Amino acid sequence: MIIQEGEAKIRAYEGKISKKLPVFYNPLMKLNRDISILLLKSIENTGMQVADPLAGSGIRAIRFLKELPKDKIFSLELNDLNAKDLKQNLEDNSVDRYVISNMDANEFLLQSKGFDYIDIDPFGSPNPFLQSAVSRISRGGILAVTATDTSALAGSSQTACLRKYWARPMRNEMMHEIGIRILIRKVQLIGMDNEKALTPIFSYFKDHYYRIFFRCEKGRKKADEIGKMHRYFLYNKETLDMEVSEFNRKEGFEYAGPLWCGNLWNHGLAEKMYEIADKADKKLIDMLSFIKDESMIDSVGFYDLNRLAKIRKTKIPRIDGIVSKGKIERTHFLGWGVKSKEKPF
Ligand SMILES: C[S@@+](CC[C@H](N)C(=O)[O-])C[C@H]1O[C@@H](n2cnc3c(N)ncnc32)[C@H](O)[C@@H]1O
Repeated sequence: MIIQEGEAKIRAYEGKISKKLPVFYNPLMKLNRDISILLLKSIENTGMQVADPLAGSGIRAIRFLKELPKDKIFSLELNDLNAKDLKQNLEDNSVDRYVISNMDANEFLLQSKGFDYIDIDPFGSPNPFLQSAVSRISRGGILAVTATDTSALAGSSQTACLRKYWARPMRNEMMHEIGIRILIRKVQLIGMDNEKALTPIFSYFKDHYYRIFFRCEKGRKKADEIGKMHRYFLYNKETLDMEVSEFNRKEGFEYAGPLWCGNLWNHGLAEKMYEIADKADKKLIDMLSFIKDESMIDSVGFYDLNRLAKIRKTKIPRIDGIVSKGKIERTHFLGWGVKSKEKPF
């Protein structure tokens, strides 16, 4: 079956979306690809050497080549262990400036001289590919990471999270914000080991996955600065008090971390992405609109209005009624949550 996504047309297989498909294509990840394109359009980098080490059907790479302005990409290298349809899909779309390879993604990355954009989009955890991706991302480059194994990060198993992501998760309404911050720290620690500072410029949680874009800077000092932003998050579920701390013990509080406690976004970038997005695409616009507002508030955690209303023994307020520009904003992590430096009522 031939399907169209954005400006790309590819061969896709009928059947349940799973690893078992002859070539993997997941229509639910269209948003993931749309956001990547918007981000690349919105940053200043041009002439980029791009790597898609886990390219699947090639849909992402084809869309990059067709939908991004010509001067963005100098060359694009696609790779997959299963390169069955890659060549044909690329040829069918009449694109140029690409090279296809068919090897293990780590080998592909490590034998290269490096890239200005690397997109790690695996089945499940990005862990097996982080070391090689981080080592090959250039100064000023963008490393994009998807994780679909959100359950350990979101606290289904503390031991699995500790083992795989070197931090303690939190199992409550904030689990996905905490999970994404734990994953960010893990990627950053690998960056620090390579004397690279990886700053998140755009991050989000959707359905079953986390997605983060990091900007890479080089140098020991910059890498050390990143490490200073790794802290514990303390939360008192009775009072909804929350704080970021160097310590993980405080009477009445549970804790998660260590985790990244800096901003999850660059606000200017989030605004620009929203401005240039296709306003007819509701899913995309909803996500970008939330993040554009939420990114004005640089704090860890948010307030669940249901819980807060219970504590205050009052009716749940209308969320639109309490939002206050740049001070109290909705969060994409929870439909009835707001980000704010202090309790909103
Ligand atoms: C989630 S899919 C990628 C989807 C694709 N990026 C997209 O946007 O449609 C993961 C891909 O990784 C490939 N893969 C898994 N392990 C690999 C490895 N060690 N080296 C190279 N490719 C691998 C699989 O064949 C699969 O196509």
